[in-house]
Amino acid sequence: MATEKIRPGVVVTGAAGDMGAALCDSFLDDGFAVFGADIAAPRGRDGLTPVVADVTDRTAVFALAERASAESRLSVWVNCAGIFEAGAVAQAGTEAWSRIIAVNLTGTFHGCAAALAVMSRTGGGRIVNAGSLSGHVGGTGVHPAYGASKAGVHALTKTYALEGARHGIACNAVAPGVLEGRMGGQFADGQLERLARANPMRRLGRIDEAVEAIRFLADPVRASYLNGVVLPVNGGAYMPS
Ligand SMILES: NC(=O)c1ccc[n+]([C@@H]2O[C@H](COP(=O)([O-])OP(=O)(O)OC[C@H]3O[C@@H](n4cnc5c(N)ncnc54)[C@H](O)[C@@H]3O)[C@@H](O)[C@H]2O)c1
Repeated sequence: MATEKIRPGVVVTGAAGDMGAALCDSFLDDGFAVFGADIAAPRGRDGLTPVVADVTDRTAVFALAERASAESRLSVWVNCAGIFEAGAVAQAGTEAWSRIIAVNLTGTFHGCAAALAVMSRTGGGRIVNAGSLSGHVGGTGVHPAYGASKAGVHALTKTYALEGARHGIACNAVAPGVLEGRMGGQFADGQLERLARANPMRRLGRIDEAVEAIRFLADPVRASYLNGVVLPVNGGAYMPS
């Protein structure tokens, strides 16, 4: 246990998803003790502690933080759990609204709060949140709660950056555009192709490109003076072309 405690630790929520799983692999490659949490059981591998937990359950999220801190030198927390529901904005209902806000926004709130509570006791660390291009520009073909939840994640990031700075904790976010993979695959036929064509780089992003940005923001040396940043990873999608 003594040597385990010396290992840097990271909590990744949404660890069974495309981005979360790739992030876990990336942190494992660098020798981190990885606590991969998801509502679906994350794939087990050496060095990874899979935790089945629902990020909307504040008690479970705080228990996860305490466990990760007891079993490692918890230094990074990545809030990656999220849900996306494709569909016409005009038909968007309130059940889906509540579900999306609960996971994407309230779940990230619980993660930031748990990380702050533990890391402020243990010498600081870094929080990285999964925001989205939708949090900046909204979007059609997706439930309006998605963009609203991600705009909320961007604001949460700034709040925890301000509070965290007093405790040696930096909090930043990535705001990816649409990426290849399971989540983007929920868009209606043809919409993904249109989104790729409309991007200045004429393609969707890749999961590994978002992972690189998260790893950068999680790095206390390379990103030492970055705090409260919402980093776009979108191929230049703001610029019409
Ligand atoms: N993939 C994209 O195009 C894209 C673009 C911008 C932002 N994002 C954001 O990046 C993050 C990761 O996306 P992804 O591509 O890996 O999606 P994904 O669907 O592959 O993974 C999301 C994971 O979150 C988990 N999850 C859902 N509800 C949960 C809950 N209540 N508690 C715990 N875990 C829960 C799911 O089981 C899943 O494993 C999400 O927050 C997403 O909104 C993704």
